[in-house]
Amino acid sequence: MTDNPVVAPDPHPTVVPGPTPGLDGAGSSPTVDSGSSFAAGPGPTADPGSGAGPGATPGVPARIPTGDRNDEIQIYGLRKSFGQVEVLKGIDLTVHRGEVVCVIGPSGSGKSTLLRCVNVLEQPTAGRIFILNQEITHRDADVDAIRTLMGMVFQQFNLFPHLTALQNCTVAQTNVLKKPAAEAKEIALSNLAKVGLADRADAYPAQLSGGQQQRVAIARALAMDPELMLFDEPTSALDPELVGDVLGVMRQLAQEGMTMMVVTHEMAFAREVADRVIFMDDGQIVEQGAPDEVIGHPTHDRTRAFLRRVLDPTHIVAGQADPFDAAPPPSPHHPRFPSAD
Ligand SMILES: Nc1ncnc2c1ncn2[C@@H]1O[C@H](COP(=O)(O)OP(=O)(O)OP(=O)(O)O)[C@@H](O)[C@H]1O
Ligand SMILES: [Mg+2]
Repeated sequence: MTDNPVVAPDPHPTVVPGPTPGLDGAGSSPTVDSGSSFAAGPGPTADPGSGAGPGATPGVPARIPTGDRNDEIQIYGLRKSFGQVEVLKGIDLTVHRGEVVCVIGPSGSGKSTLLRCVNVLEQPTAGRIFILNQEITHRDADVDAIRTLMGMVFQQFNLFPHLTALQNCTVAQTNVLKKPAAEAKEIALSNLAKVGLADRADAYPAQLSGGQQQRVAIARALAMDPELMLFDEPTSALDPELVGDVLGVMRQLAQEGMTMMVVTHEMAFAREVADRVIFMDDGQIVEQGAPDEVIGHPTHDRTRAFLRRVLDPTHIVAGQADPFDAAPPPSPHHPRFPSAD
């Protein structure tokens, strides 16, 4: 659980422990700042967008962080274990300003854990993460301050039930950003209008549909004026007829140039809106590229099997082996499977 009202209440109440210095480095790092909480190093999934110089290890930038203002999220050698189980196995990824990156993959592949590590709702076991070139995994990082750069939208909305839509959109502005009440209200109303809910400002979450609640959650995140937005399956809990409105708001945000990292099983949305699609499996980035490449012409068997299952769940014939039958059963946190969408 976090005290930060920007992201609270948290659906997975994992306590974020203090920094754990020097765990399990994944390799040598070209340039390492002093005071980093974690060892950095290239994982097995080098990001082609990271811009290695001549003679450098492919996929590893000459400098960490790159210092490039356009590199809004930089992830190096990210690993995360729960107990003995390693669920992120060396993620390297850079998300650029204005880029929409959709993360797809089977249940339990580590998509949510990746997003949750980005804003340190989970403490990484190893690796380094920079948000606008500020290291959020640094032992001295002002995590709450860096988190204000990111809006996060969860599957389960996580609105405060005792507050109206408007109050949900003002509370963090006044408490965290210390905005005057009148200014916070004005910003909240303009963001509620942006998501099509200006007329429901005084409604409580229980009086709103799931789709409306999710749009309030998006308005609440936007009211903090974030540099980038993280979405974790924002439409998975919605009835099908409510999905479109939420995706419409996200599409509009993307068109306005918001940097977005979106975990989703909405393949049509990913195909239309994403600049890059990342397929994750078993804690690694297996494949990434333009949506037409990854979704339209996947090169890896696992990607193909996943897409076949998501795009056409009826392909599984009784008596025939399914590619995911061998996968570990989902945890109690994750009873869902992609075909639920
Ligand atoms: N707090 C936790 N404690 C222990 N194990 C966890 C915790 N959170 C996640 N896991 C495990 O880590 C693995 C990756 O989980 P994660 O939620 O990142 O998967 P996912 O790709 O988001 O799956 P889904 O599509 O079902 O949401 C799973 O095996 C999950 O059970
Ligand atoms: Mg998830």
